[in-house]
Amino acid sequence: MSIVQGLVVVLHLLGMAAILGGWFATRTSPRVHPAMLWGARSQIVTGLILVGLAEAGIGTDGEPVNHPKIGVKLVVALAVAALVEIANARQKRFNLPVAIGPGAPTPIMVAAPLVQAAAGLALLNVLVAVLWT
Ligand code: HEM
Repeated sequence: MSIVQGLVVVLHLLGMAAILGGWFATRTSPRVHPAMLWGARSQIVTGLILVGLAEAGIGTDGEPVNHPKIGVKLVVALAVAALVEIANARQKRFNLPVAIGPGAPTPIMVAAPLVQAAAGLALLNVLVAVLWT
């Protein structure tokens, strides 16, 4: 493993920790934690850098890139990022005073299902990363 590839893997693992840690930190009333947002964005960037390095043969010990696996991970990661971005936008919108009133949805209600789904999909990507050999 080259030092560059190793450092990008570390950033990739920190991104995963940010997504799942952000979810865990708000688990009793799930909403978008900033760590989740930045983790989801950075997974796509660091993941694509890792693929680029692997295609260039850096840090792979000559092993070919598993394109179907990468494709699945990319689609899942895009879904994670989309869910977190939508949840964040809704959360911001419903934080405005105009949304407050009897029966109005709270920020937690509008964001929680999306945040739960994003965390579940991030976990799915960990399983794909480790178990798909
Ligand atoms: C929510 C998004 C993601 C999560 C949670 C995630 C998780 C992980 C984990 C835990 C590993 C380490 C696996 C191991 O060392 O056995 C890993 C490695 C890797 N991931 Fe991701 N990943 C995500 C998104 C992506 C994306 C979008 C790509 C590329 C398009 C990608 C490409 C890679 C590659 C190439 C490796 C191999 C690094 C190595 O040589 O060990 N990942 N990922």
